[in-house]
Amino acid sequence: MVNELDEETLSLIKQIDVFFNTESIAVVGASKTEGKVGQIIFKNLADNKRRGIYRGELYPINPNEDSILGYRSYPTLQKVLGDVELIIIAVPAKYVPSVLEDAWKKGVKAAAIITSGFSEVGNTDLEEEVKHIISKAGIRVLGPNCLGVYDAYTGIDMLFLPETKTLMNKNVVIATPRPTPGNIAVVTQSGAFGAAAIDCLAGQEMGLSKLISFGNKMDIAEQDILLYLLHDEKTKVILLYIEGIIDGRKFMEVAKKVTKHKPVIALKAGKTPAGARAALSHTGSVAGSDKIYDGVFKEVGILRARNMEGFFDLARALALQPTAKGNNIAIITDAGGPGIMASDECVTLGLNVKQFSEKTIGKFMDLIKEGEIPSFAAYHNPVDLTGVVTSKMFELSMEILLNDPEINGIIVLGLHHTPHLTEDFTDRIAKLSKGFQTPIVACDIGETEMANYIRSRFNKLGIPAFSSPEDAAYAMSGLVEYGMYLMKRGYL
Ligand code: ACO
Repeated sequence: MVNELDEETLSLIKQIDVFFNTESIAVVGASKTEGKVGQIIFKNLADNKRRGIYRGELYPINPNEDSILGYRSYPTLQKVLGDVELIIIAVPAKYVPSVLEDAWKKGVKAAAIITSGFSEVGNTDLEEEVKHIISKAGIRVLGPNCLGVYDAYTGIDMLFLPETKTLMNKNVVIATPRPTPGNIAVVTQSGAFGAAAIDCLAGQEMGLSKLISFGNKMDIAEQDILLYLLHDEKTKVILLYIEGIIDGRKFMEVAKKVTKHKPVIALKAGKTPAGARAALSHTGSVAGSDKIYDGVFKEVGILRARNMEGFFDLARALALQPTAKGNNIAIITDAGGPGIMASDECVTLGLNVKQFSEKTIGKFMDLIKEGEIPSFAAYHNPVDLTGVVTSKMFELSMEILLNDPEINGIIVLGLHHTPHLTEDFTDRIAKLSKGFQTPIVACDIGETEMANYIRSRFNKLGIPAFSSPEDAAYAMSGLVEYGMYLMKRGYL
């Protein structure tokens, strides 16, 4: 993909890449005081360097210290002996212009301004002053008022959110986990939501490629990051949380290019007047008409998540499964009620749960005759293998569905509570599905050990699993919507 790039795009990618792949980082405002933003960021990076995950140089900048965590500290950037490519700024807003002037003289290429107190609180003059300096200096900036980035592969961790916290009873617990390396990127206007998002991804055993928090987007905005991620080999799915887009035309142009190759799932906040007011004071964003955003997302192939849970459900589905080439969905279950729930939700979401072809029905009737599935099984869609289900019944039935060319996606509701169903039905289905391009999503209902095991096993095997039939149907609708978009545009 990189071969086809024009000069401008290539240069943008190189500039943004400094935030994730760099030889040298300075933390301006690094501190020894436990809990300060500059202390946490510097410590995260020092820890990752010690573990060998971050391999570049690391410099603390602090006018009052000689050394921090064993690193020689410098009073200003200019005093650093080596080159500095990337800086992380964690000093109060009024000092930010002078830090950037200094960075200019030092030849710094990129800066993440974590500091708040700019346009989001009406301090537009200060933001303009900083803009002026960075445009003269050619420094690319993330923020201000952001979390910066977290790269699960290169160990660049700017999050001032401690990984663990000590409870009042002295127990140490994970507070902001760093997810394992994976293929989902999170791009977020809200830093706090970014932190929550990686907590969710880690808790749901989903891997992360990069987190990028862009805050007030004084310089680098969502479309620049999307373009960068289009060419990032580690990223397969992009999750985008936004409050408002400034340059709609540019955004649409870039988003179209990205969604041709990678799914983008958006969570757009600020739908109501109250939400829009909150967005204005949060990141200085103008939320705009929600209907317009709906239209824009549809036009450019971005999937708009219905809510926060849906955001992660769609991510899981698109990260693990191929897209659907039509909207005819088969449902297979051992639990009649959940089968009905899934059917209802599919139809509500615009999916077809139509009766199977004569040929497929004939194959199920043959299974009944052969005694492989019970005579009282339903087989018109949904397939209900009932409470006497076994792993083999699931496997034989799935084989029929996977071989039906009219079926574009399969929802497997494998409720584990039945007496004869052994947990290997997950592996059997996953193995069988390898030879097919039909997307599959699964569901097991329950909040205790076995349900967690089944869902986790499915996920590990590459079949996204959910805890309700509705969520499974919703995830399938994402695979259908994106697949249909690609087909309509002739990309599939
Ligand atoms: N160069 C180097 N170091 C400096 C400079 C300078 N020019 N000026 C001050 N420092 C040092 C200070 O001496 C201090 O070090 P010390 O602890 O050794 O004394 C350190 O830098 C930090 O300065 P403080 O004045 O102590 O500032 P503090 O850490 O309290 O606050 C901060 C700075 C965190 C940047 C604050 O101004 C801020 O903006 N906080 C909000 C951050 C935030 O929430 N960002 C957005 C999150 S994402 C979102 O939700 C949109």
